[in-house]
Amino acid sequence: MNAKIKAEKNKVISEISGRIYGSFIEHLGRAVYGGIYEPGHETADDMGFRKDVMKLVRELQVPIVRYPGGNFVSGYNWEDGTGPKEKRPRRMELAWMSTETNEVGIDEFQEWAKRAGTEVMMAVNLGTRGPEEARNLVEYCNSTTDTYYANKRRENGFEEPFNVKVWCLGNEMDGPWQIGHKTAEEYARVACETAKVMKWVDPSIELVASGSSNVDMPTWGTWERTVLRECYEHVDYLSLHNYYGNRENDTAAYLGQSLDMDRFIKVTAGICDEIKAELKSDKTLNLSFDEWNVWFHSNEQDKEIPKWQIAPPLLEDAYNLEDALVVGCLLITLLRNCDRVKMACLAQLVNVIAPIMTETGGKAWAQTIFFPFLDASVNGRGTALQTEVNCPTYSAGGKDAIPYVESVLVENDENTLTLFAVNRSLDDAVTIELEIPGYEDFKPVSQRVLTGDDLKAVNTADDPEAVKPFEATPGNELILPSKSWNMIRFERS
Ligand code: AHR
Repeated sequence: MNAKIKAEKNKVISEISGRIYGSFIEHLGRAVYGGIYEPGHETADDMGFRKDVMKLVRELQVPIVRYPGGNFVSGYNWEDGTGPKEKRPRRMELAWMSTETNEVGIDEFQEWAKRAGTEVMMAVNLGTRGPEEARNLVEYCNSTTDTYYANKRRENGFEEPFNVKVWCLGNEMDGPWQIGHKTAEEYARVACETAKVMKWVDPSIELVASGSSNVDMPTWGTWERTVLRECYEHVDYLSLHNYYGNRENDTAAYLGQSLDMDRFIKVTAGICDEIKAELKSDKTLNLSFDEWNVWFHSNEQDKEIPKWQIAPPLLEDAYNLEDALVVGCLLITLLRNCDRVKMACLAQLVNVIAPIMTETGGKAWAQTIFFPFLDASVNGRGTALQTEVNCPTYSAGGKDAIPYVESVLVENDENTLTLFAVNRSLDDAVTIELEIPGYEDFKPVSQRVLTGDDLKAVNTADDPEAVKPFEATPGNELILPSKSWNMIRFERS
């Protein structure tokens, strides 16, 4: 099969915000306890953080990590995670029906983030709490004033503020599963008033309003309009969440699900612009796709997990090769929409629907989805170019024109280009004819490929490298093997 890819110098989508390679750690399952934190572990550092996990996180160059939830945040008292550990309460955690020890909280997580070389994206509880607790948390984290919560932070051993820049106004408040679920009108009011007082405490912060929890929410559209009419001038981003999965075991259809993400982004951006026009505003609202990933493998097994355990093994999807190809398509979709998507979080980072898995008391390893994320995060920085792909299409899963090739070209700097491409064909390799006016003196220097015969192959503690990329030397013809993720680097010759 042949495909034509054309991208022209100076025809750009946008500069890429590094924050689109964010991720997420929630107090859920073994993300925190047994994941990033395990004091008895042989690699634990002086604060109990696992250094084997830290090494993998650092490798991914994740610039921002959302915390502490997720559904968890809607029942969370942030004060529980501050100050002397022996005084911290154990709580019945209602989002995931677990026991939360609060051994790790705001105090520890900001230190973990520093060590991991990342910034914290903090979510505030707008489920059971409101503006008062949110403004107090901003003061605790960011203020240098001689006032109660800033002084509390100092008492707890942190003279310097944490300087958390990005804050989410609640989580999935449109979802009936949420603790303190709200109608759009209820959320719009509380989000607006919370945003005001948070910014009065620290005007430099950036705020994310909760958008739709997924594209199938019956309120998608009306939720955004109602919320933005109230909050537009008070917030900086609108969130989107969506998870994908191969529930029907139809690989061809599954690989096409990134088209749904594309539509979700474009329509939501359109709604933001509609409200901008309605309000005659000068401001363009950007998007934060702050929960995205594949999530379906663990759905059934999770129903069997008893309640009220500490760190139960919830949402532990074991990802296979086809999941990695879908994640690759989703990453390319984020890049192709990087004019509006300025933040995104792969949900999540460790153990819970995550690229990094651990055994409590044992090994840590990279799941299949680690590899496309690694390539994009490390090499997908710079400017995304408008990339035309002309290739055959196929029908599957109710869609009648899924292109076999998904691709985007990135100009990293004046001497380097990176092409990301997924070949969705399960049978045929694709030969690429690349037309790059303005870059005629660039030559391909390397190609990293993730593929394999078995689409269901996974990495495990005992076989951590069953699925991993290999390096190829691109020849005169660029070839994408069937069912593959590719990163092709070009340098000026
Ligand atoms: O990431 C897992 C859960 O998915 C989050 O807690 C919630 O926000 C979403 O529904």
